[in-house]
Amino acid sequence: MKPKIALIAVVAPGNIIGYENEMPWHLPRDLLYFRRKTSGHPVIMGRKTFESLKCKALSNRKNIVVTRNLEYTAPGCEVVHSFKEAFDISGNTNRIFVIGGGQLYTTAISLADEIYLTKIENKNKSRTGELFELFRGDTFFPEINKLEWEIVHQGRPYIATRRIQCPDQKKHIVFYFRHIKYIRISKKENTEKRPT
Ligand SMILES: NC(=O)c1ccc[n+]([C@@H]2O[C@H](COP(=O)([O-])OP(=O)(O)OC[C@H]3O[C@@H](n4cnc5c(N)ncnc54)[C@H](OP(=O)(O)O)[C@@H]3O)[C@@H](O)[C@H]2O)c1
Repeated sequence: MKPKIALIAVVAPGNIIGYENEMPWHLPRDLLYFRRKTSGHPVIMGRKTFESLKCKALSNRKNIVVTRNLEYTAPGCEVVHSFKEAFDISGNTNRIFVIGGGQLYTTAISLADEIYLTKIENKNKSRTGELFELFRGDTFFPEINKLEWEIVHQGRPYIATRRIQCPDQKKHIVFYFRHIKYIRISKKENTEKRPT
């Protein structure tokens, strides 16, 4: 049976996923969720995401780094030069996770069967603007087309805070995040090759 291709990402309002090659938040509970979901499965990441992990391979997972640089090496990882190659070496598995970043998600979304999205939000929608100020972004998750994707699970919101320095005081901004699972309901014609 073909392995499922799953994207897994944390997304803030505006589809922000990163800033200056880092994630603009620290969510320990979500890191545990990420580890639980991806453990034992191959993970495919772009070269920049690998470097954002301080060039450390994730344990208990086959790490596959995609780059066009034929000389690139990544300790503890398999280095490949195309998506097809990444799928080809994934091995015997029921699910392959694409773990970022923006370039990889954008290429892989048309091939994917599932999206595990951790969505950062404000409980009160009218205060979402506050999060735009809190999380600046230069890297983004692609649009999830509602005609192609359906939400099959929506977890409860978890509370998180971030401390910001104001001129005369320290202030905590409260926000929420929740785990959402999408599955594909229809597929546009795509030209990329998926694993056979
Ligand atoms: N919020 C989240 O869940 C999440 C998850 C992961 C990462 N991030 C964030 O995302 C940002 C990094 O994302 P990014 O879009 O800048 O970079 P990226 O997707 O991680 O990596 C881009 C690099 O991957 C290689 N690449 C991409 N497509 C390729 C292809 N088709 N064939 C061969 N190589 C290919 C190229 O490497 P070469 O330049 O070496 O050729 C390219 O420069 C960081 O801020 C990181 O913190 C966020």
